Amino acid sequence: AESFTSAMTLTNSGVPQVPDRYILPPSQRPALGSSTGTRDDTTLPVIDLSLLHQPLLRSRAVHEINMACKEFGFFQVINHGIPSSVVKDALDAAAKFFDLPVEEKMLLVSSNVHQPVRYGTSINHSTDKVHYWRDFIKHYSHPLSKWIDKWPSNPPCYKDKVGKYAEATHLLHKQVVEAISESLGLEKSYLQEQTEEGSQVIAVNCYPACPEPEVTLGMPPHSDFGSLTILLQSSEGLQIMDANKNWVCVPYIEGALIVQLGDQVEVMSNGIYKSVIHRVTVNKDVKRLSFASLHTPELLDGNNAAAYGEFSFNDFLNYISGNDDFLQERFIDTLKKSSS
Ligand code: SIN
Ligand code: FE2
Repeated sequence: AESFTSAMTLTNSGVPQVPDRYILPPSQRPALGSSTGTRDDTTLPVIDLSLLHQPLLRSRAVHEINMACKEFGFFQVINHGIPSSVVKDALDAAAKFFDLPVEEKMLLVSSNVHQPVRYGTSINHSTDKVHYWRDFIKHYSHPLSKWIDKWPSNPPCYKDKVGKYAEATHLLHKQVVEAISESLGLEKSYLQEQTEEGSQVIAVNCYPACPEPEVTLGMPPHSDFGSLTILLQSSEGLQIMDANKNWVCVPYIEGALIVQLGDQVEVMSNGIYKSVIHRVTVNKDVKRLSFASLHTPELLDGNNAAAYGEFSFNDFLNYISGNDDFLQERFIDTLKKSSS
């Protein structure tokens, strides 16, 4: 923690330029505002989840999920059942956490990616060669009673408000996993059985206003490791890569949540569904918050995993903490190579 400087600290001190360690090589910069490379797209899938509870309409939603998972590995959901007050309270608590004095947040800082509760900046401040304009607090979240005592005790509302969001998100993830199983023509419970004992990790991200958003990123291109991620964004910033390798801005839709398929669904579906490659751009004026709830089944089905070799969540954590190629290469692609 010797040379730890958070993005929030830099923003608050009013630096006119980002320090050199944040500057990406030109080919990796986000091309903000240019019409080549990045296009806005309002045609990304938005699925009304209330249809899942209507016997006559469920199959329509399942079909839409099938299409979205095949084409993008991504969709937004509306009418997902999580009350807007739960979402708002969780965002408020997170904003208060990041506004705490840095000495207070430093109590939770660690460069050990296996720490159940970890505050940090970039991806791993002690090993990253290029830094990302992001502060975060990451915590194990399921089963909640096992972990919540270790969560931040400041602000005082944090455990209660973020805990309610974590539980609601865990329930939502089960419903989505069921529908995804069904959309693959599997028993409704197929993926769910594998996720029942699974883990939930929530990364609460803060991307402060950045003086030079065109030379840096909040998160590098990557796909998520687990089965799926439920993402909440307070404003625009997320981009996904489409089939033509174009970056597409994910529009901000009030009240919506984002579902992203992770590498394990790509494995379990034998590649029919793809995990989505995504990155985060930052902004000159607006501080952006996001909650990424990452769901990971403990077990992998032996047959379907065969093409990808054996791997564990720990392998992945070791991989992202020690490997700069994380920016270019997907973790599962390295497995395909090493097991062939
Ligand atoms: C992530 O990829 O985990 C973060 C995405 C975001 O902040 O929108
Ligand atoms: Fe991600």
